[in-house]
Amino acid sequence: MASRTRNVKTLRTVKDIRKAVQLWRKAGEPVALVPTMGALHNGHLTLVRAAQAKAKRVVVSIFVNPTQFAPTEDLARYPRDEAGDLAKLASVGADLVWAPEPAEMYPEGYATMIDVKGAALGLEGEFRPHHFGGVATVCCKLFSQVTPDYALFGEKDFQQLAVVRQMVRDLNLPLAIVGVPTVREADGLALSSRNRYLGPEERAIAPALNAALLTVAEKIAGGGRAGVAVKSAITAVERAGFTKVDYIAVRDAETLGEWKPSSGRPGRVLAAAWLGRTRLIDNVPIAAVKS
Ligand code: PAF
Repeated sequence: MASRTRNVKTLRTVKDIRKAVQLWRKAGEPVALVPTMGALHNGHLTLVRAAQAKAKRVVVSIFVNPTQFAPTEDLARYPRDEAGDLAKLASVGADLVWAPEPAEMYPEGYATMIDVKGAALGLEGEFRPHHFGGVATVCCKLFSQVTPDYALFGEKDFQQLAVVRQMVRDLNLPLAIVGVPTVREADGLALSSRNRYLGPEERAIAPALNAALLTVAEKIAGGGRAGVAVKSAITAVERAGFTKVDYIAVRDAETLGEWKPSSGRPGRVLAAAWLGRTRLIDNVPIAAVKS
């Protein structure tokens, strides 16, 4: 298929994005939003394509959200490449880019944050205690600015997807959240903007995380005990060269609470681990457990 190479219109003020979306709404055109922090890769472009299958108009937001980073985290060095991002979005035919400056999103005197619990507790919530409050706050603002019918999120950030779904449910926000399966490299590494931090040696080690999660899922689906499977996965990941494992955990795929194979509910294996200064996360589904 021929690629579309026109420029994508980029808006930077709330007034302008509201006006543009209102025109589509008046014309009866459904709108989908793909929220991103830029440094776009094929995973993001897959989200755009999935959004195009849902709605006539697709807005992609690019905003590196300071409220979801702790002071010790990588906000300052988070990769930024707006020109490259715009070229990629033009090639897949996105309709509009919403790229506000931090002062437009959080003007002087800004004082409101969403307090998340439920799906936000534990896992990432334990290691990054303020992260999901910042994610929920910025997503709520993006939804109110863009007023989309759909917002699409990658399953790579599986807990984020659950937190956003819960917020939309709890606050009765008028849009549907759509999860899109993780896009991976041929060796299993989940695509992530942070993969570009990895040196060649680290890049070679990185797929070991996905391999270990698949082994855990396979063992549990075959009737193995989750605790035992997780323990050997942590050993395998450390032996492969990961510096530190924050967690490998087996959870209910919807609530992210405790999961029992006998429950008949879908289960998920989730992990976060460090390769030098880079923290990678990943997750895989557990197939129906053999009884
Ligand atoms: O997944 C991300 O890139 C970010 O957490 C999001 C959803 C764009 C909010 O800043």
